[in-house]
Amino acid sequence: MSAPDQAPQDRSWRGVATEESADLPAGAGIFLRARSRRLLGELLRPHRRSLWWLLATIVVQNAAWLAGPLLIGVGIDVAVPALVDGNPWPLVWITTAMLAAAALDTGLRFVFLTRSGRVGQAVLLTLRRRVFRHVQALPLSFHERYTSGKTISRLTSDVEALAELLDEGLDNLVTALFSVLTIGIVLVVLDPPLGLVALLGFPPLYLVARWFQRNSTAAYRRTRETIAALIVQFTETFGGIRAVQAFRREPRNDQLHAALNEDNRQAHDRAFWLIAVFVPAVTLIGNLVTVAVLGIGALRVLDGALAVGTLVSFLLYLRRFFDPLQDVAMFYNSYQSATAALEKLSGVLEERPTVPEPADPVPLPAAAGELVFDGVRFGYTASTVLPDLSLTVPAGQTVALVGATGAGKSTLARLAARFYDPLAGEVRLDGVPLDRLADEDLRRAVVMVTQESFLFSGSIADNIAFGRPGASRAQVEGAARAIGAHGFIAALPEGYDTDVAKRGGRLSAGQRQLVSFARAFLADPAVLILDEATSSLDVPSERLVQHALRTLLADRTALIIAHRLSTVEIADRVLVMEGGRIVEDGSPAELVAGTGRFAGLHRAWADSLV
Ligand SMILES: Nc1ncnc2c1ncn2[C@@H]1O[C@H](COP(=O)(O)OP(=O)(O)O)[C@@H](O)[C@H]1O
Ligand SMILES: [Mg+2]
Repeated sequence: MSAPDQAPQDRSWRGVATEESADLPAGAGIFLRARSRRLLGELLRPHRRSLWWLLATIVVQNAAWLAGPLLIGVGIDVAVPALVDGNPWPLVWITTAMLAAAALDTGLRFVFLTRSGRVGQAVLLTLRRRVFRHVQALPLSFHERYTSGKTISRLTSDVEALAELLDEGLDNLVTALFSVLTIGIVLVVLDPPLGLVALLGFPPLYLVARWFQRNSTAAYRRTRETIAALIVQFTETFGGIRAVQAFRREPRNDQLHAALNEDNRQAHDRAFWLIAVFVPAVTLIGNLVTVAVLGIGALRVLDGALAVGTLVSFLLYLRRFFDPLQDVAMFYNSYQSATAALEKLSGVLEERPTVPEPADPVPLPAAAGELVFDGVRFGYTASTVLPDLSLTVPAGQTVALVGATGAGKSTLARLAARFYDPLAGEVRLDGVPLDRLADEDLRRAVVMVTQESFLFSGSIADNIAFGRPGASRAQVEGAARAIGAHGFIAALPEGYDTDVAKRGGRLSAGQRQLVSFARAFLADPAVLILDEATSSLDVPSERLVQHALRTLLADRTALIIAHRLSTVEIADRVLVMEGGRIVEDGSPAELVAGTGRFAGLHRAWADSLV
């Protein structure tokens, strides 16, 4: 198959991966950056007591586990000779002690695993909730920069990396560190010369571990990057599946997917190879040390310098010494993934809203709807979109905004709904700058309906009721009737209870638009903004919507961005925009009678209708 060879020409997807890693410190290393530490501290603080208990449990459990080899040694050196002399009691004591240690070991291990699992899950729950809430509240400007694929990868694979660490990693680490330390001490205490022999295994062990750690850092980073790139491509493909199929992008997406998948496979291959070398190497060193200890130990037993039981204890401890070392090195990878994930998550959590809610908002319980743009300058990036806009829309006026694509109509609308704040100047509602209003007051007063009339999974009634939380069924139906949507909703299999995500509940673009109008009608805002909300409708549906629009626009301030003459004719006032400026302003009749752009536009429209 040549697919994986062809697709790599397109480097943009790797670009995603590189960017992913760009916000990471190069060799993340052992230490956490300040913001990760802060986040971890905040997450663990509520569980401090549990954590201390867990630590105590694991220490005692390890002590019980470590007692085993020592008791065996004593059994051989003391209990067996006593038994030979006819005294069974030492053996009884020692076997009892061993049983007690085994019971303690088993019981505490159970307690530790269940408890630590619970703490881990509680931490993850909090984290996931926090990230979700935070990201949801972040402004549009964040979401434009941070694709949904990245967000999803934060909430899935990054949270998962932390979960892995909490579930297994910590257990392994604590056990391994504890046993390596204590066994090291026990070995030297049991028999210093043999302890020294065992220590000879350290330098090669250190070298192997260092090699593994260095290489695995890069390898695991690569696996994370490739999986992130896969998730991003995944979400984009299926998020835009209509365009994908319409433009026959399937083969190309398929190639990209194959290439990204192949990258991921290679990354994992490399990681597995490292483990495949590392684990047997540690085992080999362990075995060589064991052989040396056995040989030298046997000679010392021969000299009478060492008891057989002590030698057995020593050998048993040696085994227990090397096994956890492997775990520690493996743990290093979970740790690396987890710290990288933590770093990215804390980065997202540090994102501040660019349109923050004011700390001491000006109350505006019932807005009249006077909208003023006062010397507003705005641009999304360095280039200016609206150079200097001043506009007063008296309460209750219906204003139609027309102009070529890119003229800045939607931008003006977004500023009126405070999706962005102006760079200079002010947008005021009833004399109050929008950034001085509480989110709740603002969202109640200003509602924007766009072309993508989005329906959430749930019933039609739920979707309309969004407009006003707590609205009764009668109010929902009332809104649908006012807008002229009642007819088609009543004809659906389950009427207002039809699930819009299920078969049979699928609505046409026009029907969806009517539902979103009903939602807006129910919300009953002082200012309503329609951004090309009628352009997805065909002419008959549009007739229907014309009626709906008149109902919707009555008694409120309205900004309608429309491409159709019929919509514009409803307006009291027309604004023609060009290059971010208002170049004509007047009633439809005035402008049609004049010689300006709107007159020309109107003639073209009229001609097209003939
Ligand atoms: N989210 C955005 N980020 C950056 N630039 C944008 C964004 N939205 C619009 N623009 C730019 O702002 C200008 C005005 O766009 P817009 O207000 O959408 O025009 P209209 O709605 O009149 O077609 C265009 O040049 C467009 O490229
Ligand atoms: Mg637009």
